[in-house]
Amino acid sequence: MEGISVGLMGLGVVGGGVARVLADSRAAIAHQVGCPVNIKLVLVRSLDKAREYAVSSDLLTQDANDILLDDDISIVIEVMGGETPAEEYIRRAIRSGKHVVTANKEVMAKHGPELLAKAKENNVEILYEASVGGGIPLIGPFKQGLLANNISAIHAIINGTTNYILTKMASEGADLPVVLKEAQSLGYAEADPTNDVEGIDAAYKLAILSSLAFHTTVGPQDIYREGITKLTAKDFRYANELGYSIKLLAIAKADSGSIQVRVHPTFVPTDSILAKVDGVFNAVQVEGDLVGKVLFYGRGAGSLPTTSAVLADVIDLAQNIYRGIDHQPTAPMGFTKPITSVDEIRTRYYLRMSVADRPGVLGQIAQILGDSQISIASVIQKEADETAQSAEIVIMTHTAQEKAMRNALRVLNNLAAVVEIGNLIRVEDQHD
Ligand SMILES: NC(=O)c1ccc[n+]([C@@H]2O[C@H](COP(=O)([O-])OP(=O)(O)OC[C@H]3O[C@@H](n4cnc5c(N)ncnc54)[C@H](OP(=O)(O)O)[C@@H]3O)[C@@H](O)[C@H]2O)c1
Repeated sequence: MEGISVGLMGLGVVGGGVARVLADSRAAIAHQVGCPVNIKLVLVRSLDKAREYAVSSDLLTQDANDILLDDDISIVIEVMGGETPAEEYIRRAIRSGKHVVTANKEVMAKHGPELLAKAKENNVEILYEASVGGGIPLIGPFKQGLLANNISAIHAIINGTTNYILTKMASEGADLPVVLKEAQSLGYAEADPTNDVEGIDAAYKLAILSSLAFHTTVGPQDIYREGITKLTAKDFRYANELGYSIKLLAIAKADSGSIQVRVHPTFVPTDSILAKVDGVFNAVQVEGDLVGKVLFYGRGAGSLPTTSAVLADVIDLAQNIYRGIDHQPTAPMGFTKPITSVDEIRTRYYLRMSVADRPGVLGQIAQILGDSQISIASVIQKEADETAQSAEIVIMTHTAQEKAMRNALRVLNNLAAVVEIGNLIRVEDQHD
């Protein structure tokens, strides 16, 4: 065999890394596969852009058909990003009998189950290791190494941008706008940070992981989501005093026949492993009935880490093509587990509020919480503002139901003595 031809769609951060390593490690990859893996064409938007890694201009095309209609190309690597037109190109590649490797979390979260089913119909594979956690092997372990387990929970830090921001807010005592600006200037956050700071990116990744872990179909719309925009320097200060760190956690839990899936800022004990995951690093803690707790930790993004995941999939496919092994694509499970409504979850809460600084107010608040079956674990009075005659209080609750907490907040909001509800943050007291 002269070699296996691949079509690369995208030559940006990830595509550039893939092209570079396919060229630089050509001999090693050929050795692993049995024959060379050659890039035949590269789809880009602009032909004359200056690039981090340039390929011969003969390889560049702006027409996706050049790749999709080329019978010699057996693997399409989609590293363009975005939903459109990436999803359509993946669909067309599958229809024309090409295997697909993609790093696209948005497409896989929104359309993964359908694309996997289409791939099975067409006897090709769609592999997506790079779509979650960059270079950290996650999809492979869920598809293979953890298969014998009943997974009970995933607690994950899977967005490096927000973890960088939260780490800085904690260490510098700074508020979000300041840290976000710094993250943007360093290239850790995009000019439009919405997908990261609103938890959308983390929700895409959790949809992919929880579908695999719980053998069901979870879409981004199923995931309860809160971003990091309401967090202030005060929350970090109080969290620290209480023995907690604040992380944007993606959580999936088996919940007697249904599953909980949520992304939100979370108090985690300062001495837990997840609290120690700093900066742009990612960590995914998985709990299975056989394996116990396992932790996947590493760089969740970046050109070379993500290239590592993309090329692992390419080599896997190329080895099978070279050996003439029939592909046995796995389709998603044919059933869907119910998703627990966020109203039904039970957790502990941190509640920060500003109240009138006069006697009897704490009693009124405790009464309202008690009426909703929420018991207080501790209450601390923080800063008092003498001019405004208000004081900030921080309440930690025992485990309570979300619906009850929301009801209580509605009542508290209407209480004359409550100046402002500052923040409500859920607590995960899981131990390592
Ligand atoms: N960056 C990371 O660290 C990372 C980590 C994990 C996963 N991912 C995923 O990997 C994918 C690629 O990310 P990236 O950071 O490499 O993106 P990027 O740097 O923006 O590169 C995108 C590439 O795709 C090309 N492209 C985009 N839309 C196109 C279109 N409509 N037609 C033709 N070409 C088009 C662009 O062409 P031009 O160069 O001509 O503009 C560019 O080369 C995304 O799905 C992302 O979520 C990225």
